[in-house]
Amino acid sequence: MISSFPKEGPLRFHALVALRPIDKSGLAYPRFHYILKLTMRADINFEILEAQSAEKKTIENLLSLYLHDMSQFAPFLKIGSDGRFRYQNIDLYWENHGLTPFLIKAENRLAGLILFNSSPYVPDEIDYGIHEFFILARLRRRGLGKAVLKRLFGMFPGKYYVAQLTSNQPAIEFWHRVYDSLGIRYDEAEETEAGVRILTQRFTV
Ligand SMILES: CC(C)(COP(=O)(O)OP(=O)(O)OC[C@H]1O[C@@H](n2cnc3c(N)ncnc32)[C@H](O)[C@@H]1OP(=O)(O)O)[C@@H](O)C(=O)NCCC(=O)NCCS
Repeated sequence: MISSFPKEGPLRFHALVALRPIDKSGLAYPRFHYILKLTMRADINFEILEAQSAEKKTIENLLSLYLHDMSQFAPFLKIGSDGRFRYQNIDLYWENHGLTPFLIKAENRLAGLILFNSSPYVPDEIDYGIHEFFILARLRRRGLGKAVLKRLFGMFPGKYYVAQLTSNQPAIEFWHRVYDSLGIRYDEAEETEAGVRILTQRFTV
């Protein structure tokens, strides 16, 4: 049996209670084994910073890590002969209005990225699209991704469009959790884009 205490807030407690039904010591009553796991979920200080053109290489390097993660779910993503995954047309993010690259920094180090789109790079009736979203593996499952999106939504309120590969179940679970915990109502649909199955959500913040 696994029970967990409230997860929100600076500390998160998980109490794993394992019941051993057969008591090897011969006592009349079964013994309970309690394993208490205390997980630090410290509030992480982070910043969302627009990446300058001098930081293009940094974005490219993070995107290579991101694409490596994504290649588990998208076999069409192939590594280059130089050992890096390459994101097509990333230069456009410093050339075209409506495409904005953000770096996420936490604990004074790089923590991830956001490729953020607006008109004309979003569907009609939509203000913003989170085109790519990535948190470094070391910092995952500490609430950072959710906290970053909460702040981003505060910075850019409006109508959003978001998509996940249907094969990327962890990302789908993440987004659903974000919607639930931030009280966001969304319209969801399964679509095909360039031959790839995706799950899309539209919502307003
Ligand atoms: C998806 C991603 C951004 C999540 O970032 P994160 O900082 O770990 O997310 P959070 O810690 O804020 O997670 C919030 C909640 O989302 C859910 N969640 C997050 N990652 C999950 C996973 N891998 N599997 C299932 N649920 C997950 C959990 O409910 C989690 O709360 P909990 O840890 O209390 O259970 C990160 O794993 C990532 O960068 N993945 C690789 C790139 C990617 O898939 N990006 C999304 C493309 S659409």
